[in-house]
This record gives sequence, structure tokens and C-alpha cells, in this order.
Amino acid sequence: MKQRPLGNSGLSASIVGLGAWVLGGGPVWGQETDDAESIRAIQGALDLGINLIDTAPAYGWGRSERVVGQAIKGRRHQAVLATKCGLWWEDERGSFFTELAGKKMYRSLRPDTLQLEIENSLRRLEVDHIDLYQTHWPSVPPEQTPIADTMEVLLKLKQQGKIRAIGVCNVAPEELEEHVRCGGIASDQFRYSMLHREAEQEILPRCERHQIATLTYMSLEQGLLTGKIGMDRVFASTEFRANAHWNDWFIPANRQRVLELLASWKPLTDQYACTLAQLVIAWTAAQPGVTHVLAGGRNLAQVTENARAGELTLAAEDLARIRRDVIALGEPTKV
Ligand SMILES: NC(=O)c1ccc[n+]([C@@H]2O[C@H](COP(=O)([O-])OP(=O)(O)OC[C@H]3O[C@@H](n4cnc5c(N)ncnc54)[C@H](OP(=O)(O)O)[C@@H]3O)[C@@H](O)[C@H]2O)c1
Repeated sequence: MKQRPLGNSGLSASIVGLGAWVLGGGPVWGQETDDAESIRAIQGALDLGINLIDTAPAYGWGRSERVVGQAIKGRRHQAVLATKCGLWWEDERGSFFTELAGKKMYRSLRPDTLQLEIENSLRRLEVDHIDLYQTHWPSVPPEQTPIADTMEVLLKLKQQGKIRAIGVCNVAPEELEEHVRCGGIASDQFRYSMLHREAEQEILPRCERHQIATLTYMSLEQGLLTGKIGMDRVFASTEFRANAHWNDWFIPANRQRVLELLASWKPLTDQYACTLAQLVIAWTAAQPGVTHVLAGGRNLAQVTENARAGELTLAAEDLARIRRDVIALGEPTKV
């Protein structure tokens, strides 16, 4: 498994990271998640050289963090443990974000909720420090906390040894720059896949310029790019994949186009003796500015398949061919 620096933090992390959102289970993921299998998946990831594990308090209301904590017991030193702060549900502090499974969630990067969140995460993960502590979503009006105030708290947590590096997620370019001005960050995490390339315009070049590590998410388009989600797969209305606003490639007409594209890559998967998931992850990891690809995995089989992509290097002409193909695919039809 290849590793790359996590920005200027001094930490080094596997280019394929394990995304632990699905391990939180719940209605957003449809089919129920099995904690025993989740633990096998996390431990298998470590065995296969995936040291970057990305979780968040919001994934299953703490369940994902608890499962990660159980899985890394006795192997803490092997993991680069990344979690997040800023989605808050214990009371109404912050700005309303969304309602999930009957719980209201607020975006809060206030100093007081951050102080509570770090202790909650350390307790759920059963660790004395977190390697990469990321703000999950930027603070927004009406209760917007200035980035400088949030960074002051995060820098203090770093001084105290509770976290080793600071990261952000889902920030706009100007917010990224403000974090750089307010003390600097090791990483930026955002949505990026071969079908969703908006980050190429500003975010990836800026991260590269500032030597900020990039953790891409939904790079497998939540399983669609593995080729294993056929036309007959139906998602429950509560599932994130049924949300056309986020996942319009899943709409049947669009899905058909993606499946045809994936089928056309059979010569490539034959040539590299790899699966589509591996081809897609390797392509993503090879894009300019991308340093780490988070791949969600709900079981050991998925994690094992995804980990092998960390050893796969695609030739320049094949990277270019895939890019030409996804550009030719065009945009998804909107509903
Ligand atoms: N910061 C943020 O706001 C944010 C947002 C989204 C995600 N993330 C992070 O990024 C990670 C990755 O994103 P994601 O989990 O949403 O999407 P993803 O990695 O694109 O897709 C993960 C899903 O794809 C399926 N899958 C993965 N590998 C597979 C394989 N080899 N074969 C068949 N199916 C496979 C599994 O779904 P099924 O088994 O259910 O079919 C899995 O849950 C998350 O886990 C999370 O850590 C962060």
C-alpha cells in the first residue's frame, strides 16, 4: 500500500483510506450494518496496510466511532485515526442543518460545543488522542462562528496533545484560504469522483499549492462505480442513494449510461487484472492534487478489494482514456 504525507502534519497515511460512514448504519444506508463484520472490515484494512480510517460522530450517532474504537484496540499505533466535529445534536446550539431519523442536527463550530465534542469522540473511540480532527461542515448563518474562533480552539487542542493535525471538509475556496491564514490545516476532505469533478476547478489546485492533503469522498459514487449496482436495485426512500439531489447518477436513465460506460472498460480491467472498483480508485488517486481516496466499506470483502487498488498504477494513456470517456459521458439528467 502506497502512503503519502498528510499535508505538513508529519503523519503519513495510506492513499486508500477506509471510510466508516456506512459502519454507522441506520436508515441512510438501507441494509442493516453488522458491527461484528464492521470490526472484521476495520481490522482487515489495517492488516492490508490501510492505516487511514475516517469516521465522524454523526455516522450513526456515535456508532461508527464506537465500532472503530473497538476494532483498533491493541492496534492504536497502526491507525491514522481521523474523525470530525461540527455536526451537533445534543441541543439546539448552532444553525439547523438537517433532520435524520427524527433527530435534529445543527452545524456548530462554536468553541463550547467543540470542547464537548472532542471529549465525546475521545471517549467513544477509547483513545487519548485523535490524529486528524476535521470540521465536518463549515459554520453558516444564522449562528455563524468565525473561522478564526474555531481555529483557535483546534490549535489549542493540538497544543494539549488531544489532536495531532487539523483538517476541514466541504469548504469553499475562500474558506480554505481563511483556514490557511488562521494557523494552517493538514487536510481538506470533499466530494470528488470521476463523475463529480467540480473540485478540479479550484479546490484541488489550491490544496496542491498549499501542500494540503486531500481526502476525496464518494469516489466510488456510493457503490455505483463498482458496477455492482444494476438496474434492478431499488433503494429505500430513507437511503442516501435515493436522494436525487446528491446522487442523480442513480436515477435509472443516468444509471444505465454509467453501467454502459463501466462495461466499456472491460479491456482495461482485463489488462490490469483488476476490478472496476480498483480501476476507479486507482484513477482517482492518480489525479493531480489528490493524495488520499476514502472508500467506504461495509465488510471485509469490500475492504480487501479496495485496498488492492493502493498497489495499482495506471499508465498515463489509460488515465487519459478514462478521463476522455467520463467527459464524453457528460452530465446526469436532472429530475
Ligand atoms: N466529510 C463529508 O461530508 C463526507 C461525506 C460523505 C462521505 N464521507 C467520507 O467518505 C467515505 C467514503 O464515502 P461513502 O462511503 O459515502 O461512499 P463510497 O466510498 O463512494 O461508497 C461506499 C459504498 O460503496 C459500496 N462499496 C464500496 N466498496 C465496494 C466494493 N469493493 N464492492 C462493492 N461495493 C462496494 C458499499 O455500499 P453497499 O455495501 O451499501 O452497497 C459502500 O458502503 C465515507 O465513508 C466517509 O468516511 C465524508
